Parts: sequence; C-alpha cells; structure tokens
Amino acid sequence: MPKIHVLSSTDRQGSNAWKVTNYIDPILSQNAETKLFTLRDYPLKDLHGGKYGDTPDTVKLFNDEFLDADGYMFVIPEYNGGFPGILKVFFDYLPFPEAMEKRPVSLIGEAAGAFGALRPVEQFEQLLKYRKAYIYPERMFIQRVNSTFDPEKGLSNETLQGLLESQLEGFPAFVDQVMQLQN
Ligand SMILES: Cc1cc2nc3c(=O)[nH]c(=O)nc-3n(C[C@H](O)[C@H](O)[C@H](O)COP(=O)(O)O)c2cc1C
Repeated sequence: MPKIHVLSSTDRQGSNAWKVTNYIDPILSQNAETKLFTLRDYPLKDLHGGKYGDTPDTVKLFNDEFLDADGYMFVIPEYNGGFPGILKVFFDYLPFPEAMEKRPVSLIGEAAGAFGALRPVEQFEQLLKYRKAYIYPERMFIQRVNSTFDPEKGLSNETLQGLLESQLEGFPAFVDQVMQLQN
C-alpha cells in the first residue's frame, strides 16, 4: 500500500480542517498507509525574523517527517479568499526545488462560505504546478462546512459524500500508478 501523508493546513485551534483530516483517515487508510499532520505542530516560532537559507532543525524535522511519503493530501480552509498564511510559510521552507517534484498530491477544501474553499485550493494548485507536482484531478470542496459536515458521519449531502469517497478511494491507486511509472 502506498504511504500517504495528510496535512491539516492551518494552525487554528479546534479547526474544521483537522476534523475533516481525522474523518477521512479511516476511508483513506483502507487503501493506503496514512499519517496525519497538522500545522498546529509546525515550529513557527523558530522562524521568527526570517530564516530563509538557514532552515532551523525543528523545521527540517517537520519537513522530513511529512515528506517521507509516496503521496500527499492537503486539507485546506479558506481565509480571506485564500489559503492560510502558515501554509505558505510551510511551503516556502520545503527543500527547493525537489520537495514536490513528480509527487502525487490530492486536495480537499473546506469553508464556511458557499464556494467550499475553491479559491484557496486553486491558488495552492498554482504553487504545486510551479513546483512540478502531479495533482490528482478529483477534488472536494466542502461548502458551508459548519452545517454540512459531521465529524462522525461526513457530509450530509449524499452525492457529495459519494464524490469525497471516490476521491479517497481513487487517490491511493493514482499514487501507485505514479510510483510504477517512476520505477
Ligand atoms: C481568518 C479567517 C478568514 C476567513 N475567511 C473566509 C473566507 O474568505 N471565506 C469563507 O468562506 N470563509 C472564511 N472563513 C471561515 C472559514 O473558512 C471557516 O471557519 C473554516 O471552517 C475555517 O477552517 P478551520 O476551522 O480549519 O480554521 C474565515 C475564517 C478565518 C479564521
């Protein structure tokens, strides 16, 4: 089974992104070996003042543990029409240029609003494309997350729940295919 690391892409306490991350894990782990990460654990304080070119060991350790996988899934909330600032900091301190190169990546957005984090997911895709990742084409945008998502049961809309499960079942197979191409 491919190894897939999932990142809850905010450091907000009690975040929906972390709830979604925990909800999807049992479904994803039917076909993958998974490990969950949250940017709440990111050693942001060690970057105070800007440490570009001199990445602290704590940040290197977080990066190394996250990158040690065959594929990645990002769960991204919408903050002011974009993705959280800490996700950009995390991305800017990944090893350049190789961190995401030819790596399979899958994306889930969640937001209080009606667009379900379509904007931040597509903005983040631009960064991933620049860094030459292979983006899985099935994506989920969880709209009005506070009323449509239950941390135990998933999405209240059956069609959307089906699409979410399809993404979670399909992504491990995509990761396998990419690995075969590279061997
Ligand atoms: C700083 C901030 C900015 C936000 N901006 C938006 C926004 O632009 N559009 C939107 O639909 N929701 C916005 N929200 C609501 C969040 O999308 C919603 O609360 C989401 O569940 C937050 O994800 P989190 O719980 O994982 O932090 C914002 C929330 C925060 C904290």
